[in-house]
Amino acid sequence: METNKTTTIRPSCAKATAGRHLDPPAPRLRRAGTSTPRHLDTSTPRQLDPPSPRLWRAGTSTPRHLDTSTPRHLDNSTPRHLDTSTLLITGGSGFIGSNFIHYLFRLPHFTGKIINIDCLTYAGNPLNLTEIDEKYGGTRYFFEKVDITDHAALKTVFEKYEIDVIVHFAAESHVDRSIAGPAAFIRTNILGTFNLLELAREKWGSRRDVRFHHISTDEVYGSLNEAEVEAKFKEDTPYDPHSPYSASKASSDHLVRAYFHTYGLPVTLSNCSNNYGPWQFPEKLIPLMISNMLEEKALPVYGDGKNIRDWLYVDDHCSGIWAILEKGETGETYNIGGENEWTNIDLLNVLCEIVAEESSKAKDHYKKLITYVKDRAGHDRRYAIDCGKIKAELDWTQSVTFAEGLRRTVRWYLEHPEWIAAVKSGEYLRWIELNYDKR
Ligand SMILES: NC(=O)c1ccc[n+]([C@@H]2O[C@H](COP(=O)([O-])OP(=O)(O)OC[C@H]3O[C@@H](n4cnc5c(N)ncnc54)[C@H](O)[C@@H]3O)[C@@H](O)[C@H]2O)c1
Repeated sequence: METNKTTTIRPSCAKATAGRHLDPPAPRLRRAGTSTPRHLDTSTPRQLDPPSPRLWRAGTSTPRHLDTSTPRHLDNSTPRHLDTSTLLITGGSGFIGSNFIHYLFRLPHFTGKIINIDCLTYAGNPLNLTEIDEKYGGTRYFFEKVDITDHAALKTVFEKYEIDVIVHFAAESHVDRSIAGPAAFIRTNILGTFNLLELAREKWGSRRDVRFHHISTDEVYGSLNEAEVEAKFKEDTPYDPHSPYSASKASSDHLVRAYFHTYGLPVTLSNCSNNYGPWQFPEKLIPLMISNMLEEKALPVYGDGKNIRDWLYVDDHCSGIWAILEKGETGETYNIGGENEWTNIDLLNVLCEIVAEESSKAKDHYKKLITYVKDRAGHDRRYAIDCGKIKAELDWTQSVTFAEGLRRTVRWYLEHPEWIAAVKSGEYLRWIELNYDKR
């Protein structure tokens, strides 16, 4: 097999760790000069024709046009069971990845193992997984500090563990940062994904009782017009990414699908809307606003504050991913959303009230901190997800209301001031240096 060139690409982690600072809430790009509604092109749906029926658990009956030079080291007719699988989680020390690892260990029927590979950029925080490491470290939980852009290092992980499932979260994920410095997004999101796909293909050969699940975002679909209240992103909405972040995610999505169509790699994809919950780095809207409130700092709102986002509690994203792993069809994409659209300013007002209530302040105490700042050019106006497919086909639904999820989130940040302080002071970066880099 041809060796890919990413082995020579400089890992992005070291660079990303430098210059850590907290930014205003994430802007999203809108096509320059686009005021016209972007219609969902339903006339030309992008079909994903699965080359074979669903093979997860069921073993395989029809091996596809595979690279036969790759060893078939396992009997395809032996079904693997998800509950006892070894899952490789990339980016497991980030916000959603760490929540997913907590979620898995809470599942009563999950008895498998988790390998977390993360290079610990500014957004990766091992403190998110302290309890897991204490309880399961070395038996069912294993951490490998690896950069996915480093093909050679990644290969050692594939050689060390017998992996059944890959859930690929690792990414540069902050739109603001992608505008300031897109290179790390191209390296991690595109080349890192390519490395994983290549190694999975090489390692798994013709196995079909395995799965590569790729985590993506609703931002790949572009922007909706707020006037078109019924319009939502569906799985067949044409891609129209507007920022270096969403373009790099779109690119990785295409690569993942290409590996399904070309090599028969058993993949699934999910595109999710904005997540919120515990352990989210305070550069993103909700944790940034909470931590600013607690410090009585200004609460910056871009433009008129009327940009609309759909919000999903992170545990509901995790349950959606699990449902896809359990029941999803290979080759398929599932949109996951909260069906919970809020303008930024309305959300902020509600958040101000919850934080005030939870910290025994007057109802409007924090609202006086709201400050409108100049909008960023190209800020996407509205995102909305149609998650009818995952609901109908996989019997998934959201379980946490926005009121409940926001309150849980606020309480978590109030109860973990040391986590916020450590993250904001850079203390945890020094801890990483001490614990991982100088070993
Ligand atoms: N946060 C959201 O609202 C949201 C919504 C939809 C989709 N997503 C997607 O979900 C995934 C996770 O998002 P998140 O919010 O948890 O991101 P995050 O920034 O909190 O975490 C990303 C993790 O990836 C790690 N990482 C980055 N570059 C790496 C590299 N080169 N090698 C190894 N590890 C690396 C980081 O250290 C970090 O732990 C991303 O793919 C993102 O595009 C996020």
